[in-house]
Amino acid sequence: MTSARSRQRQGGEPSPGIECPKCAWLNRADSLFCERCIAPLNIAKLSELSAGERFTSAAALLQVLTPILSAERVALEASQARLLGAYLSAFWLRPETALIQAVEASLLRGHLAARPAGPFADLGCGDGVHTALMMDWVFGEDFDVFRDLALSADDVFDNPPSQLGRAPLVERGQEIDLGIDIKASMVSRAALLGAFRQTIQADGSDLPLASDSYAAIYSNVLRDFPDHVLEKVLGECSRVLRPGGLLLFSTPTESYRDWLHFYRQAKQDDSEGRREAAARNLRLDRGRSVFCTQQIGLADWSARLEAQGFVVESSQVYGDRDLMGFWDTGLRPFMPTILEWLGRLDEPAPRRQLKAAAVDLCFQLLAPVFERNLRASDGAFRIIVARKA
Ligand SMILES: C[S@@+](CC[C@H](N)C(=O)[O-])C[C@H]1O[C@@H](n2cnc3c(N)ncnc32)[C@H](O)[C@@H]1O
Repeated sequence: MTSARSRQRQGGEPSPGIECPKCAWLNRADSLFCERCIAPLNIAKLSELSAGERFTSAAALLQVLTPILSAERVALEASQARLLGAYLSAFWLRPETALIQAVEASLLRGHLAARPAGPFADLGCGDGVHTALMMDWVFGEDFDVFRDLALSADDVFDNPPSQLGRAPLVERGQEIDLGIDIKASMVSRAALLGAFRQTIQADGSDLPLASDSYAAIYSNVLRDFPDHVLEKVLGECSRVLRPGGLLLFSTPTESYRDWLHFYRQAKQDDSEGRREAAARNLRLDRGRSVFCTQQIGLADWSARLEAQGFVVESSQVYGDRDLMGFWDTGLRPFMPTILEWLGRLDEPAPRRQLKAAAVDLCFQLLAPVFERNLRASDGAFRIIVARKA
């Protein structure tokens, strides 16, 4: 797909660069991610990691798990335990994703419950699972977010569902009026969940929605846009929300990078003159240190939001050293092997048994980190709740 738009970058001048294979936006040649739709452009694929890089990743994982293992066990309050359990089950092959998403969901749930009455949209819904879990949907034990990925593709998630069918459901939560994503594959995945009344393929900087029509918008993609795209998307959210409507989102803090495992290692290697080791660690960072583009403080967010007619009502940081170390290492580098291994199973019982044991173990291990991050005073991420004036 090539459009007039793909030939232009910010400011309108044509420039040599790399065209995004997903949305045709013309990016700088060295861009790690597309500026418009955040598809990966120059990131090492999981399937391309060498044996040495997998060993380094395994060592890093064990290193970050050590302090987590020695934390005092906690008993979570019932609704928090249910939420963490639901995330660990859906994301069982990536407990690191389950943990951070569950913390974010827990911090946002109270604000969502108190949102003004009226339609609610998820901007950049992806496969929709995160927002569905946040809105109290619980999926069956056979449900698995990572079952159907394109492991050899640049973007493992941009893969239309094959024969997944409707997601197995244990409990219905609150319906989400609209899921919006720029990728067709994500829109069809979200539609299969059954948690969205409607899903549409659209660009957040040009929403096909009436002005003053929504009561609340949640998004965890705002943080990934560069300034000129973010300004347009915030403008669109402001146009579409009713006066008094809420914009709820998560974003990195200004110190985000320094909480990451591989980026910190690379920085230390570099400052001590170990250039090759620094480059190896940056390859394992796989763009995470730049992926969340808006690494800015609350005052900067307030200024950007105020410029679009919002007032920040509330914010809360999360993402401490243990959570971020686990998030940045986790099981991700081993996915190709794990999925290949699981793919060889021709009966469901051993998979269910393994999953049940893994979810139990992760729950015990991660509950203290989860609980601690609900009341963190410093961290790599924050949620922000802003109201349209
Ligand atoms: C980091 S993913 C998060 C997906 C989902 N919210 C979740 O938590 O699992 C960001 C999503 O935003 C979508 N996206 C990227 N750029 C977009 C744009 N300009 N407009 C709408 N969606 C966009 C991507 O396709 C992707 O599915």
